[in-house]
Amino acid sequence: MSIVTIDADVAREKFLKAPFALKHGLADHPLFTLERLVKLAQSMPRDRIEYNSGKLLPGQRAEDIPSIYMAPPEVIKRIEEANAWMVIKGVESDPDYAAILAGFVDAAQAAAGKRAHDYSDLQGFIFVSSANSTTPFHVDAEENILIQIRGDKFVHIFDNHDRSLVSEEAMEISPSKHRNQHYQPSYEERAQVFAMKEGDAVHLPYLWPHWVKTGGRHSVSMAMTWKTPEVNRLNKIRLMNGTLRHFGLPQKPPGASPTIDGIKVFAHDAMRVVIDPLRKSEGMRRLLRGAVYGRQANYYYGKEEKKAG
Ligand SMILES: [Fe+2]
Repeated sequence: MSIVTIDADVAREKFLKAPFALKHGLADHPLFTLERLVKLAQSMPRDRIEYNSGKLLPGQRAEDIPSIYMAPPEVIKRIEEANAWMVIKGVESDPDYAAILAGFVDAAQAAAGKRAHDYSDLQGFIFVSSANSTTPFHVDAEENILIQIRGDKFVHIFDNHDRSLVSEEAMEISPSKHRNQHYQPSYEERAQVFAMKEGDAVHLPYLWPHWVKTGGRHSVSMAMTWKTPEVNRLNKIRLMNGTLRHFGLPQKPPGASPTIDGIKVFAHDAMRVVIDPLRKSEGMRRLLRGAVYGRQANYYYGKEEKKAG
């Protein structure tokens, strides 16, 4: 089976514009066994792993999320009974996962009729979740194809043009904000629900709101993500807007003023020249997040670790 199978007509109409279902050929790949994922978790810096109880509601407030008091490798080994939800971020730092991610995104781009390499910032996120675990309502600032490796997942996706669901302000980017968005059960009549089993995948375009629930078995899935030049530009503006709002200077959304958008992109790029070399170590990343955005910016460290740090 090929690594990705996309209906050409659907891709032409919807790729990067709207969600759609597709198929992948990675369900039996040895990189996704629990044993291999335990090794991966052991090799990753701690701030690249986020985990908590999976017994959440779609509208769970960030401050009400129960913790799991186990080390990440233990959570994976005991995922069948742990009632846990975990994401391992930035798995492209491992060359094995980087290769599979690059191969997949290249194949998806080609199948959708896009130029190869017309993107940047490939990032892979691997989700390991117990049965009946919920990922609350949120948006992600990248293009994504979520592939289902093991178990079942129900992905509820909402139109990102509907500002009554997620406001422009809520789409601003800031490390001090938890990813979860305000949710009401009444939203559900506007959801498109993709029921995924092993071998299924769904394309989740930039900032399309969604929440996810696993089925009756533990689940392993991977978000294959990339950024187009336009996504990079919008993210720079939204990060500047989120940072300026944090300092009491609310801004207009991207597109309201091309001149001001251009200034924000320029300012962003100038700051990154200074900050990026510092972000290479976990300690400096933690210090910078805390200094600019406050202690809550390091929310994904466990409660015990936060007290210790
Ligand atoms: Fe997501």
